[in-house]
Amino acid sequence: MRTQVAIVGAGPAGLLLSHLLAADGVESVVIETRTREYVESRIRAGILEHSTVELLESAGLGDRLRREGDEHRGIYLQWPSERHHIDFHDLVGRGVWVYGQTEVQKDLGRARDAAGQQVIYDVRDTTVHDPEDPYVTFTLDGVATRLDADVVVGCDGSFGPTRSVVPGRTWQRTYAYSWLGVLAAVAPSTDELIYAWHPDGFALNSMRSPTVTRLYLQVPAETDIAEWPDERIWDALATRLGHGQDGWKLTRGPITEKSVLPMRSFVQAPMRHGRVFLAGDAAHIVPPTGAKGLNLAVADVALLAPALVALLLEKDSRLADGYSDRALRRVWRCTHFSWWMTTMLHAGGDPFDAQLQLSQLRWVASSVAGATGLAENYAGLPIGF
Ligand code: DHB
Repeated sequence: MRTQVAIVGAGPAGLLLSHLLAADGVESVVIETRTREYVESRIRAGILEHSTVELLESAGLGDRLRREGDEHRGIYLQWPSERHHIDFHDLVGRGVWVYGQTEVQKDLGRARDAAGQQVIYDVRDTTVHDPEDPYVTFTLDGVATRLDADVVVGCDGSFGPTRSVVPGRTWQRTYAYSWLGVLAAVAPSTDELIYAWHPDGFALNSMRSPTVTRLYLQVPAETDIAEWPDERIWDALATRLGHGQDGWKLTRGPITEKSVLPMRSFVQAPMRHGRVFLAGDAAHIVPPTGAKGLNLAVADVALLAPALVALLLEKDSRLADGYSDRALRRVWRCTHFSWWMTTMLHAGGDPFDAQLQLSQLRWVASSVAGATGLAENYAGLPIGF
């Protein structure tokens, strides 16, 4: 097989890239180790930045998002006995949208179906070869296959094979805690997300729809989910989120999914070697606090698509040559923001750190300068920042 762009990975980054390339007349083939059912049902974050929504809309992918998504003006920041609303709209003139990654994935899948995009799911043994004249090999139903391409893009996440052919430097930070995430079939107890600092550990009250609540609890790294029966989860959420405080109530309901998510920061640079490029989690991982992962992947692809169009159709390599440096500016901004939100909100066991966290939270919640910094980063900086 031969194509212009071989895309490894059919998550949001890979499918969005194929969509943007096709709009400009560049052909691609996407390969994916998982099944379509798996990629369309795995639970991920659910917050879209303003610029992510604008990009999806301009690519013709905004209809269902506008209908079924929920625009939020801001978030609540809280610690025991105090809850403060940070209004992003008032502070920076833009908000965020609650719309699950699973929904973005389904919208992309349908749009690519309608366009006749070739996406090959359930492949095995994917290997990327020869960065100067690249090709990808894999097996499909036991048959060895070779895909030649002008360019290969790794959108294959942090454990995918593409990164191994892009030499460079890496930076990372692991955290001593994880998140226990649950989906519950119950109406959200709050109109906007609550980020709660608590001496027992962080808690987050998020949502997916008027009937589905998404909640997270800080737990020690390596926690066994079996230690957390549903009753214990609800009790911890009630304590940390302040059930009963100023009349606020956390409504319980059936938990339909639960899992433990490890937390780490990771960046690889550069995000390109020869004719092999990386986008999204293949090049960088952020801890979930602040919901930057999907938004960063979209921002990478928004820079990479026009760069590949210029490279392949006009033989102009300037944007492709600048891609890694440009993408990494935003990657490091979001890496810092995610680390900052994480370290401001999670209990680490050190009483001095706890006082610094509370002081920082009081400053963010009460100073326009403090709140604006959070709002600008959370609602998202412009693509190309
Ligand atoms: C969600 C995840 C996040 O990491 C976050 O900061 C906000 C919301 C979510 O899954 O809803």
